[in-house]
Amino acid sequence: MDKFRIRGGNPIKGRVSISGAKNSALPCMAAAILTPETVTLHNLPYVRDIITMRRLLEDIGAHVLTPELRTHKISAANVELMAAPYELVKTMRASVLALGPLVARFGKARVSLPGGCAIGARPIDLHLAALEKMGAEVFLEAGDVVARSPEDGLVGAEISFDKISVTGTENLMMAATLARGTTTIHNAAREPEVRDLAELLNKMGARVRGAGTPTIQIEGVEGLGGAEHTIIPDRIETGTFIVAAAITKGELEIRDCNPEHCNRIIGKLREVGVEIEEVNQSTLQARCGARGLHASDLMTEPYPAFPTDMQAQFMTLMTQANGRSTITETIFENRFMHASELQRMGARIQVTHDKAIVDGPAKLIGARVQASDLRASASLVLAGLVADGETLIDRVYHIDRGYEKIETKLKEVGADIERVRDSVTAPLSTQPQESL
Ligand code: UD1
Repeated sequence: MDKFRIRGGNPIKGRVSISGAKNSALPCMAAAILTPETVTLHNLPYVRDIITMRRLLEDIGAHVLTPELRTHKISAANVELMAAPYELVKTMRASVLALGPLVARFGKARVSLPGGCAIGARPIDLHLAALEKMGAEVFLEAGDVVARSPEDGLVGAEISFDKISVTGTENLMMAATLARGTTTIHNAAREPEVRDLAELLNKMGARVRGAGTPTIQIEGVEGLGGAEHTIIPDRIETGTFIVAAAITKGELEIRDCNPEHCNRIIGKLREVGVEIEEVNQSTLQARCGARGLHASDLMTEPYPAFPTDMQAQFMTLMTQANGRSTITETIFENRFMHASELQRMGARIQVTHDKAIVDGPAKLIGARVQASDLRASASLVLAGLVADGETLIDRVYHIDRGYEKIETKLKEVGADIERVRDSVTAPLSTQPQESL
């Protein structure tokens, strides 16, 4: 398994370009299942989860062409298998996004039920209950969820989510595009990635209104066609690089991002003393303010509030801030695993249930640490950048799932970071991976 070796202390300075959002790219790739025509997606990030989703599409019989590294032309004209196997679902929970499109277009789907994962139980009950409301028969068979639509297809329904679910909203939105009648999703996720998917679906001929608000209405259509779409920039990668500049007392010009999608992240980071300037609609300039960083409390919540996917990186930043910060995680019940690794580097953090109390500033010292999930890995990289001495981060396959060439991007702006390749690294298909 590859590792990162980081020698801390270098200020991060220069320019960095943000990749496409993985969490938008994955549902958009799944949406290609809805049509026999070609869907062309640009600005896909070059990360492992995209390779996994491509494998899933190819496994079911779709053809994927890659005329350029970040462009996929997906044709699901000849789908033969309506299934996402355990091997893929266990490496990437987002495989469940195939469920809605498969049932909607082919009337049946079998998707391995995602088990527990590193950051919590993460059930998919909301996805399944919503499909049942649309007339599907849903049952469990040998660890797989099997869903079958009535003979004449899914029917539009009023669906009210008890809890806001991003992929739940996306799955249902896709399923509803080909249903008879209108579907209304209440308490829908409002993430920019949901809006991006709706934009693609509408380009394909769907009738989706209200994406980005808590109520989404989808009027079913007979069939969908091909489309071309460019994936939005990754707001979590943007936030991570802002933190990298601030924590190392460097300065970064962050290009190809969408500051509008990062409003709450930017607002919170400004509040703790990071200077962030919006240079234009796709460029930010970030540095640590002259008065240094100060502590602040944080609560993660669904968009438009502060994202859980930036919680770990914020925690690392708060280890360097003056004072005590309390971080409350409301989305996932077990998402503080980075705290114990940060403690091993000298951070002063106490975790109780859904809260972490961080006392700063703490002098971080390089250590051998282990990444536990995608965003936790990013927090350890940030800690390594500011720590004295050498940090060796194990299990960086987690970070490869969602950050495009993070070590190359950081190196180009002054970080002393290298990937230590394991000579016996297992191929992609056999690498141990917890699903997220
Ligand atoms: C998505 C993101 C992930 C992010 C998360 C929260 C993708 C591919 N992944 O994950 O990066 O951290 O949103 O912003 O977009 N829940 C249920 N039942 C369900 C579905 C969800 O109880 O059927 C719960 C979950 O356990 C969690 C909460 O709802 O506590 C939110 O989860 P959800 O928004 O569904 O997360 P994902 O879509 O899996």
